[in-house]
Amino acid sequence: MDVAKIFLTTLMSYVYFFRSANGAFCGDPVAEYPEITPETELITCHLSVTSLADGPFPGVDHMSVKAPVNASVTQIMLLAEKHSGGDFWFESDYHENFGTYVHTINGLSNDDPYYWFLYDVMDDGQTNCGTDFTRARDNDHFHWLYEEYTYGYY
Ligand SMILES: *[C@@H]1O[C@H](CO)[C@@H](O)[C@H](O)[C@H]1NC(C)=O
Repeated sequence: MDVAKIFLTTLMSYVYFFRSANGAFCGDPVAEYPEITPETELITCHLSVTSLADGPFPGVDHMSVKAPVNASVTQIMLLAEKHSGGDFWFESDYHENFGTYVHTINGLSNDDPYYWFLYDVMDDGQTNCGTDFTRARDNDHFHWLYEEYTYGYY
């Protein structure tokens, strides 16, 4: 085993541990989404979508989503899409390393310099792992913001 890799992995887990004391946390990607049965333990999360670009956009404000414990953000978004009656929908690509990459929400697509960024409101910052890896805690609030990407900002 590579010592540097172990060190880095350990360091990262501490960073994630401290970062995510309240909000979502980074986990392994979910291989498949569990079917929700009456026995499934559910948490409630909230989803908001805002565009900072010019022009009208059908946003989302605190949509409640019931999802299984430890659901990934991808799973939460799929559940939101399924139950929102058309108020929320998204399109994504799949990348081998980063997993699901969301490029379009409610018909609005990444268009340089504007991109979709995911914020974890409980953590007061951008999520630092992809939507397949970000796991929700009860009462988490995820906010998709369509904003101008400024190079070197983070
Ligand atoms: C949720 O994730 C935490 C942290 O990885 C784990 O300890 C817990 O067992 C998981 N719960 C379920 C129901 O999967």
